[in-house]
Amino acid sequence: MNKKIAVVGAGNVGASCAMYLAEANFADVVMVDIIEGVPQGKGLDLTQAGPVRGYNAMVKGTNKFSDIKGADIVIMTAGLPRKPGMSREDLLKTNASIVESVGKNIKKYAPKSFVIVVSNPLDLMTFHMQKTTGFPKNRVLGQAGVLDSIRFRAFISMELGVAMSDTQAMVLGGHGDTMVPLPRYTTVAGIPISELLPKDKIKAMAQRTAVGGGEIVKLLKTGSAFYAPAAASVDMCKAIFNDEKRLLPASAFLSGQYGIKDIYIGVPVILGAGGVEKIIELKLNKSELKALQTSANTYKSHLKVLGY
Ligand code: LAC
Repeated sequence: MNKKIAVVGAGNVGASCAMYLAEANFADVVMVDIIEGVPQGKGLDLTQAGPVRGYNAMVKGTNKFSDIKGADIVIMTAGLPRKPGMSREDLLKTNASIVESVGKNIKKYAPKSFVIVVSNPLDLMTFHMQKTTGFPKNRVLGQAGVLDSIRFRAFISMELGVAMSDTQAMVLGGHGDTMVPLPRYTTVAGIPISELLPKDKIKAMAQRTAVGGGEIVKLLKTGSAFYAPAAASVDMCKAIFNDEKRLLPASAFLSGQYGIKDIYIGVPVILGAGGVEKIIELKLNKSELKALQTSANTYKSHLKVLGY
């Protein structure tokens, strides 16, 4: 294939991204990691699954950053995951230094690429990636809202026994405890969720969504979720690659929208060949807007820790 997607990190999230990308069969995949042998082994293993999984995509594992050369899109997954009891913000300093060194390599070897950041704490790492690469803000975005909203959608399906594909949900704000699930914009085949479920059930599902990553960290004990985060990242990657003009929540740079500026935070965007082509400003009610602004303010204070 003559198109290339790079995945940085060959851990659980990175390798799952490589797997879903290969299955989507629209580009070759290069997976880079500093650990010798692991990306190569996983890449070869995934390539060998091709004949029976019906894909022609090659998955190359490497320790050399120069191999990402020419990548159209880079998915950044490298960084430490959470352990039980940790918040995503506890990873701030360690992962910031990883983002910085990776960002410099992306700038050097794939200067025209789009970068989808998955490393935590997500919104802050996305900001840091944009600053490090100096790429235009439409080309650097964070994956979180898609994950948070598919979690909400899965809970709705589980509760109502309806097809996952008929559910729609919108989750905004930071990818952390201050995230803002929006039941008012959540439907099943266009039917507002409030017509299908009692208020307290909706509230409980929204709350479960907000701590959805933590629920999995507690169960796994040794790391955090990876299948759904990877699936969400690949969905965004496809939207950009195929110029799909999807309307999805993503961590994007705000310059005054929702009364928020100079920060990356989860908002609805149009995702296409131009990356973040547009930020959609919903008419939020007072409490929704306040929740979004509160979420943004929390991250502003964290950015100071990074020296911004
Ligand atoms: C989660 C992590 C990956 O939400 O942020 O599962």
